[in-house]
Order: sequence, then C-alpha cells, then structure tokens
Amino acid sequence: AVIHDQKLVRGEGGELHQIAEGNAPVLTTAQGGPIFDDQNSLKIGARGPTVLEDFHFREKIFHFDHERIPERVVHARGYGAHGYFETYESLAKYTRADIFQRAGEKTPAFVRFSTVAGNKGSADLARDVRGFAVKLYTQEGNWDIVGNNIPVFFIQDAIKFPDLVHSVKEEPDRGFPQAQSAHDNFWDFISLTPESMHMIMWVMSDRAIPRSLRFMEGFGVHTFRMLNAKDESTFVKFHWKPKLGLQSVAWNEAVKINGADPDFHRRDLWDSIKAGAFPEWELQLQLFDQDFADSFDFDVLDPTKLIPEEVLAPVPVGRLVLDRMPDNFFAETEQVAFMTQNVPPGIDFSNDPLLQGRNFSYLDTQIKRLGSTNFTHIPINAPKCPFHNFQQDGHMAMRNPVGRVNYQPNSFGEGPRESPQRGFRSFPEAEQGPKQRIRAESFADHYSQARQFYISQTPPEQGHIAAALTFELSKVQTPVIRERMVSHLLNIDKGLAGKVGDGLGLKAMPKPADAAIATRRDLAAAPSLSILAN
Ligand code: HEM
Repeated sequence: AVIHDQKLVRGEGGELHQIAEGNAPVLTTAQGGPIFDDQNSLKIGARGPTVLEDFHFREKIFHFDHERIPERVVHARGYGAHGYFETYESLAKYTRADIFQRAGEKTPAFVRFSTVAGNKGSADLARDVRGFAVKLYTQEGNWDIVGNNIPVFFIQDAIKFPDLVHSVKEEPDRGFPQAQSAHDNFWDFISLTPESMHMIMWVMSDRAIPRSLRFMEGFGVHTFRMLNAKDESTFVKFHWKPKLGLQSVAWNEAVKINGADPDFHRRDLWDSIKAGAFPEWELQLQLFDQDFADSFDFDVLDPTKLIPEEVLAPVPVGRLVLDRMPDNFFAETEQVAFMTQNVPPGIDFSNDPLLQGRNFSYLDTQIKRLGSTNFTHIPINAPKCPFHNFQQDGHMAMRNPVGRVNYQPNSFGEGPRESPQRGFRSFPEAEQGPKQRIRAESFADHYSQARQFYISQTPPEQGHIAAALTFELSKVQTPVIRERMVSHLLNIDKGLAGKVGDGLGLKAMPKPADAAIATRRDLAAAPSLSILAN
C-alpha cells in the first residue's frame, strides 16, 4: 500500500498548507471539482471569520449533516452477507417459479439477519427474535422471504402490529429499555394478548439467544402457495435449516458477551466469511394440499401456529451459501429493502391476515426509510434480470424511459408489453362473505401449541424457560401483570406456572386465564360451538 505522508509547504503568500505526498488521485468535490486544501476553511485573513462563499466547506458539511437515514422502525440492528441459492431438483410439479425449474441452478442472494426490538446501536445478544430476511435475485424478479428464526408470531392480525412494537420498544416517557423484553409495557401487552403465548414460549427459550447467526434456523412463518404451470396450488411453508445445527448461549453468557463485545454476532459472521468458512442453510418445504389443511386441528392461516415436522416432514429443495461480505455496510446492508410482497410468478400468498397486512406495510416503510419511490434504483435492491417499465421521475431517478414513448399500449412499437404467458397470476381463489371486522373461531386455541413446545424441550431447556420467565417478570413492577402472566402459564403447563409463581414469590396462584378450547375439528362438528374453559 502507498502511504501518503503529510507534509507542510508554504503557499505563494507565504502561508502554511498541509499536503499529502505521493501520486494519489486528486480529491474532488461531489461535482468533480479538484480540491486545493481540505484541511482549512476559506477565511478572511489567517485568524478571521470563515466566508459564506466557501462552497467546498458547505458541500462537505451539508453532506455530512445528512448522513443518517431513519433506522428501520423494527429490526433496526442487522448484519448482512451475499451468497447464492442452489436448486437441488426441478419443482415444476409444484411451481412455475423460474428459480425452481433447473437442478443445479445458482441464484444470487443477499441475507440480512437482525434483532427486532433494539435500536441500531444495541447489543447483539439481547433476548429477542432474530430476523432472517433473504432476497433471491431470480430470473423473474426479486423474491424476498422475510422471515424470523422462530416459526410463529406474536399476533394473528397485522392491525395489532403497531401496539405490539410500541409495547416492546422503549417506553415513551423514559426512553428505555432499548433492547430487553423485561419491562411492564411489553408484559402488559403480552398478558392481554393470549394469542402471543406460543411465541412467548419460543422467545423465553434458548432460541432467543443464539450463539451465532450461523447456528440459527429461519422460517417464512406464514402459509404461502406454490402455483404450477396449470395454476394448480400447493400450500407451502418455508424453512431454512443451518448446516452447522442449532446452538445457543446460556443467559449468563449472553449478559457477559453483551458487555464485553456488543458486536459479537456480526464479528462472528464477518470473521467466518472472511476466513472462507461459508455458512450454509438448506431450504426445506412443508408442502400440503387443501384436504390436509382442512384436516388439521389448527388453521393454517393462523401465524401463531406451526405444522409439526413429525406430522409433515419438510422436503429439502436447495441450499443457501453466504460467501461474500458487502463492500460497504451502508450501501448494501442498511439500504437493502425487503418486502413480503416481492414474489415471482409461481409463488403466491395465502389469506393469513398477518401476511396480508405485511404485504401492505413494507412498500410504505421502504419509501419512508429510503426517502424515494426510486429505492429500487439502489444497486442492492435492483433486479438482476432484465426489467422494463414506464415508471419515471421522482427523487433520485437513475433510470427513466428511453425515447419518446412512456406509456402503453402505444402505436410506435416501442417499449415493453404485458405477457399473459409469463406474467404473475394470482391463484383464483373464490372469495365471498359479509364485510366485517372479525377473527375466525378457528384461530381461538392459544395454548395447545405453547404446551406442545414446552413439553418438547429437554429438562434443562425447560429450566431455562422457567428461569427466563421468572427473571423477566421479576422486573415487572405492576403485580397484576405478573399474576395475569402466571394465569396464562397455568393453561400451558401447571409445573411451569408453579415454578414461575414460586420464583416471583406469589402468595397464592391466580385462576387460569379464560381459554377457548374449541379446535377446528370441534368447530366443524358443531359450527356454533364456542367453549370457554373455567
Ligand atoms: C422489518 C420479519 C411482521 C412491518 C422486518 C424484517 C424482518 C421482518 C426480518 C427486517 C428486514 C431487514 O432485514 O431489512 C417479520 C416477520 C413477521 C413480521 C417474520 C411476522 C411473521 C410484520 C408486520 C408488520 C411488519 C405484521 C406490519 C404490519 C415491518 C416493518 C419493517 C419490518 C415496517 C421495517 C422494514 C424496513 O425499514 O426495512 N420484518 N415481520 N412486520 N417489518 Fe416485519
């Protein structure tokens, strides 16, 4: 490397300037003008005021003043890497998605891992859900699988998302806590939201303190559809399985690591990829048809439920390898814009009310965060396949229609046209019903899968869940919130509720929370059934 030593020289008027020696390229302004002196502002006399005329100083400072963009409203702290997805076999039977047609095909990918609650400068090892967002640059457009490392979510309807996020983020009067779930507002909201109980079991488990981003699973969470060339639909759930397996740290380790190295996870990813130890995940699909969906106890449209892998084994269909770090964190990792609505032809949505709301939210948030409808002009967000449309102008437009014509149809034979053969077609699901604000009764059982998760854990893991709940709830200062949480735990597992109740020093156990115990099968037998326990 050439080292440019600083040197002092006298100018024509005898004044002193610092210059760099060597044959470096000439420093210029953003307009390309060569710069004479970047160390001193333009002044009247050696000790006089700086003049307004100093356009170089103004440009430099103004640009600096505008360096920050809003951090993501959730998932603000993240770390990304480039790689590729390799398809194992053709899935043409299930989907016409181009990415799944040819065995061995490699598709470029970018992945951003994140925590959810903490701000951009928070610590990596917070007890939190991890985002696992994958952008696949397919030959038929970008496909984003915007998932988490936990296969279920806190809420069943997107309209509750602002409340969930307000409750988990810093409290508005005091501005803390920033990255921990141990506070009254969060547990207040959770204790008043029984549908969150399944997810809470996962968040209180070791899954929420992964040892490294390389040892985490990823889940698309929702039920999606795959559509083949004949428009036949198969339901699908997406799972990323780490080749290295799953590993977590213990809570006391997490606390120490956060203090000693808040960048622990990002450093680990950087170091391993730079050292050539490329992390790898297998994409596995749970594929099922309408009959299977109808036979299941839970509603496959309910994002607080999963389909147990013992009931429906996931099928491996490809692998994701991360082999290159971004050249620039801001340009790539910070500006990457994931959106659930980015799906290629052959992939489609289900009516999951959380997914439907997400499909609306992400475009809006990207325009707000990145500041322009032209955020797809940023290289990390641009498709890597040919693309043509008549969108034009707006802030920071890098691409505009070429030539006279910026509309279609047109008589000049210019520009792109729609393609009924290749274009995105939705599954023609028949919809009918009264327009109403309502939650399906089939979404009503909030405890069975929470219990199944808890009892599937080994005794030490169960101990960690009890300890995490006790620790977190012990920070809650409002007694009724603690008691309400224990009343939910009684519906999940009495032993767990007892341990947490003892740990919190409750004098008497509360009554179990009211619980709807009807399953879909009960409802099919007696549609008006709405059973409340207790
Ligand atoms: C960001 C996942 C639910 C709104 C993200 C990110 C992930 C994610 C991984 C970070 C993307 C990145 O790395 O840049 C999920 C999952 C959900 C869920 C798995 C449920 C299954 C929701 C809902 C909404 C929502 C219901 C709103 C209705 C947002 C917003 C961002 C975000 C506004 C910030 C996007 C940005 O500024 O780049 N989500 N999310 N999410 N999510 Fe979600």
